[in-house]
Amino acid sequence: MRVLVFSDADRAGAAAAAEIIAAFRDTPDGVLGVATGSTPEPLYARLRYAHATGALSLAAARAFALDEYVGLPAEHPQRYRNVLRAELVGDHRTGLRDTGLHTPDGLAADPHRAAADYDRDIRAAGGVDLQILGIGANGHIGFNEPGAATAGRTHVGALTEQTRRDNARFFGGELPRVPTHCITQGLGTICEARRILLLAFGARKAEAVRHLVAGEPTPAWPATVLQAHPSVTVFLDAAAAHSLGPDAAVEFVED
Ligand code: PGA
Repeated sequence: MRVLVFSDADRAGAAAAAEIIAAFRDTPDGVLGVATGSTPEPLYARLRYAHATGALSLAAARAFALDEYVGLPAEHPQRYRNVLRAELVGDHRTGLRDTGLHTPDGLAADPHRAAADYDRDIRAAGGVDLQILGIGANGHIGFNEPGAATAGRTHVGALTEQTRRDNARFFGGELPRVPTHCITQGLGTICEARRILLLAFGARKAEAVRHLVAGEPTPAWPATVLQAHPSVTVFLDAAAAHSLGPDAAVEFVED
């Protein structure tokens, strides 16, 4: 695991975006794993800029989301399919086609079956080449909350109270409006991505980052499963890195 520390989130996002731009220049029809939440926003802004300036096109790419809420109406702006459309899809974004964006079907009559279908679709696409990840304050990745099976496949999960509170800001601050369930790639599914770029910003993430980078592997901190992955790069701002301690093997990237 390579750990890079930047002075701020914007610089970290730009560095992660540069990896994606280079990868899709080499392999325009590759498979990108995409995340939602606040963390990838600076990265996505850089991808849009790269598309606007001709340095990137995801027109031939496929993208697979990590997760989706169960039960949000099709037009709901916080449905992750709609969030990712707004960030990435179309010629005024990154060139990604709507048909190239894959998200779990949170409105399926049988969400468990939709989860299994989604896992199969990722494999049928050849797997994820490059996965963008955030991390929850409780160490979750995707919606794999503490205790999740380390070899888990895409499944229906319940959101913890903390995660629902964390996400209430996207629902007008009203906890009852935050969905209770999701379909999420499992930790086993996520770890099949060939390369992983994990981003974490702000002091709220510092404890989760400390476990990720320097803690014992434990289901109590789901992201620690990534310690066994052969190609993970972690992009931090200074606040997210502040609990790592003086002996941590990190690289400080100068402005
Ligand atoms: P955030 O969420 O980017 O909104 O902080 C990250 C996550 O929960 O994975």
